[in-house]
Amino acid sequence: MLNDSFMTALTPSPFAKGETEIFIEPSMANRHGLITGSTGTGKTVTLRVLIEQFSSMGVPVFLPDIKGDLSGLCRPGGGNKKIEERARLLGLNELSYEGFPVRFWDLHGKEGHPVRATISEMGPLLLSRILNLNNTQSGILSMLFRYADDSRLLLIDIADLVSLITHALENTAEIKGKYGNMTSASLGAIQRAVLTLEEQGGDLFFGEPSLVLEDILEVKDGKGTINLLSAAALMKTPKIYSTFLLWLLSELYDLLPEAGDLEKPRFLLFFEESHLLFTDTPKVLEEKIIQIVRLIRSKGVGVYFITQNPGDIPEAVLGQLGNRVQHALRATTPGEMRAVKAAAKSFRQNPKIDTEKVIGELGIGEALVSVLDRSGVPAPVDRAFIYPPRSSLPPLSSTEIQAEVRSSPIFGRYEEAINRHSAAEELLQRQKEVMAREQAAEKSSVKPKPAPSSAGRSSKTKDAGDVVSTIAIRTATNVGTQIGKEIVRGMLGSWLKKK
Ligand SMILES: Nc1ncnc2c1ncn2[C@@H]1O[C@H](COP(=O)(O)OP(=O)(O)O)[C@@H](O)[C@H]1O
Ligand SMILES: [Mg+2]
Repeated sequence: MLNDSFMTALTPSPFAKGETEIFIEPSMANRHGLITGSTGTGKTVTLRVLIEQFSSMGVPVFLPDIKGDLSGLCRPGGGNKKIEERARLLGLNELSYEGFPVRFWDLHGKEGHPVRATISEMGPLLLSRILNLNNTQSGILSMLFRYADDSRLLLIDIADLVSLITHALENTAEIKGKYGNMTSASLGAIQRAVLTLEEQGGDLFFGEPSLVLEDILEVKDGKGTINLLSAAALMKTPKIYSTFLLWLLSELYDLLPEAGDLEKPRFLLFFEESHLLFTDTPKVLEEKIIQIVRLIRSKGVGVYFITQNPGDIPEAVLGQLGNRVQHALRATTPGEMRAVKAAAKSFRQNPKIDTEKVIGELGIGEALVSVLDRSGVPAPVDRAFIYPPRSSLPPLSSTEIQAEVRSSPIFGRYEEAINRHSAAEELLQRQKEVMAREQAAEKSSVKPKPAPSSAGRSSKTKDAGDVVSTIAIRTATNVGTQIGKEIVRGMLGSWLKKK
């Protein structure tokens, strides 16, 4: 159902000029992409130009701002010699400078709306990756999640996870009976990993209110929102950074409806430093990532990987990346030379271009480009100049970013963390109830029971039974109001809360 105005809105502008002008076919933008090249060759500028064009087309995007050099996207550019030079080179007499709607996000909440997820939404698989757990420990964590689900314990923040593990340590025998083998040593190791994560800032990331996808999918005055995740500080904890991105990918996959063939994508993700998504990633998780990348297309979502060397990305993912921009690759070591050969071979060849030779010769902001045509066939590779961006290259100051955040229509939605009644509070309450009942029993019985330990926790075996019966009672009564009856888990094991 295309009408004329819809078609005009979709007229894509070129992002590069080779033999002809090159643009990403909007209906093929969900066939993913790859931007590669050594440092300083123009990857981030290319990505900026693409983002500007998709935003203009009404496609919202999400991307981490690794070096803090993208905040200028919200201001019109101008006054930059290199940009003017490039505009002249490409015969753009009047480059129309323009700012775009940017929404700032920050896990630390300093230069953006805080972005959070709950432990439960993250799920055991991704959490194991953040925590660097081995297979055994990861299996135990999955068991703990099942135990929490069955016991109607909400896992929201790190405190909930710590309480759950402590509870498991005190009731290992009982939980083991139902859920499978777990040792105190492994539980202890998981607990230490959780505490390390907390020190790294995990306590900021896990909690509520958690990110609502609608807030990154907005289109304002016909322009797609550019969601920028402040990532400079985050890069110090690459595991948290990359796992958050995987979580976002899986949320989009799990929660967006099937879209069929769209005239333009519904949403695009750009992952800079995307090799981090695949380092230290267990096979099971990597296979799932590959599967999500393959399937998320049908939800109208395109994923663009940005990294230095295509070899940083697994074959099975590379094979799915239809739109490619290869900037210069410097090759001195044998490994790097092999990388250049592989990158050159990955293109549909053009008899006029010796790809392998050209990769080493490309100037800054120049690239080998191949995009999918309307029918999804890769065009022969072309040597092209990337267009100049229309937004401002210099970044905003911290004060300016904070002003942007305060004037955002969603300001206030995420700013204050909320701490509702969840596993930590619930387990404490259950324990108090057990103790109260013990004390009551003590008073009425002739032979008093031993008093609870000084830590407020009573001696092992007996309590286990008591705690379980308390859980059973609560499950049957009021906890149903806290968690929906059915717990649905998505592709990566995330708990799909209704949003
Ligand atoms: N298409 C372009 N037009 C004009 N200048 C560019 C272009 N691409 C890159 N440059 C210049 O090169 C610099 C480095 O590019 P950048 O994209 O940051 O490299 P990378 O991300 O690969 O490290 C930019 O700051 C800019 O001055
Ligand atoms: Mg860069």
